Amino acid sequence: MRILVIGGAGYIGSHVTRAFLDRGYRVTVFDNLQTGLRENLFDDAQFVYGDIMHPEQLRSVMSGGGFDGCVHLAALKAAGQSMLHPELYAQSNIAGTINILNQASAAGLSPIIFSSSAAVYGAPQYLPIDEEHPKEPENFYGYTKLEIERMLDWYDRLKGMRYAAIRYFNAAGYDVQGRVKGLELNPENLLPIVMETAAGIRPQLSIFGDDYPTRDGSCIRDYVHVSDLAEAHVTAFEYIVKQDRSITVNLGSQNGVSVIEMLERVRAITGKAVPSVIVGRRAGDPAELVATSARARELLGWVPKYSDVDTLVSSTWKMYEKFAKN
Ligand code: UFG
Repeated sequence: MRILVIGGAGYIGSHVTRAFLDRGYRVTVFDNLQTGLRENLFDDAQFVYGDIMHPEQLRSVMSGGGFDGCVHLAALKAAGQSMLHPELYAQSNIAGTINILNQASAAGLSPIIFSSSAAVYGAPQYLPIDEEHPKEPENFYGYTKLEIERMLDWYDRLKGMRYAAIRYFNAAGYDVQGRVKGLELNPENLLPIVMETAAGIRPQLSIFGDDYPTRDGSCIRDYVHVSDLAEAHVTAFEYIVKQDRSITVNLGSQNGVSVIEMLERVRAITGKAVPSVIVGRRAGDPAELVATSARARELLGWVPKYSDVDTLVSSTWKMYEKFAKN
């Protein structure tokens, strides 16, 4: 079977590519290397340099490839930035996806496995969050993901294009076999920032608030290992091919970890001091976000293997310690 992975040179995309290759699929990565990295390309996958903003480039790769499906991970993903530059997010995420859907439809390419996000839900109204939870995104990034999900639903109804919308909670960790080589540039997420601090690349970690109504006052999140996420893309693809129906699933570990707990595990595992300072709350941060992934377990048999905190931390540290300056 042949799969096209759009955005396959990025952090999550490279792990998804690896997961399909490991299961014996032939994979073509399509990426503009804007945030994706050349180091993330694998010798056993084909690479096509291209941009989702250019429909003719999509047409060219899709029409000649004989693909059995497509994974779409090409997007801007910094929630804070999306509030400052919504036009960029509208263009890349929404207009870019329209290009993909129209070219895929013309090429008869289905199903599409789409990278969605827990950001579609907004502030939690109950926990753990299931797929039926109200969708009221609190940032423009989350709005783009929700809008795309709605579009996928219409293309399914009108054109028979099947899809999986996979709502990631907090993706973290690296391939435990060390096969993904690229470190994310200018990370905005907690674990890479803690790691850069442990490695002496940053002077200190700012903890955004210690006065939340949680067990230690810092925010609780549901961290899920990127290889567990990647595996679900393969099983979702196989499920859709077999069942001929679209699905929407949460992927999280259902295990809430606070910022301070994560920091303490990093200190213990790396043996580094990791200086930190408590600063004010970051706008738009809910106190706690935890998923139920019961639907993914039920439909896909998905059980996270690497999403315990120690594996998240140690697989990430294996990448960062190579760059340690202390
Ligand atoms: N945090 C800090 N200091 C930092 C960075 C983060 O204290 O320097 C805290 C945040 O305040 C938050 C927690 O660490 O409480 C996690 O923050 P991240 O920025 O890593 O992740 P978010 O939960 O804000 O968002 C992430 C993705 C979103 C996605 C969401 C889904 O970035 O795209 O998870 O749960 F929608």
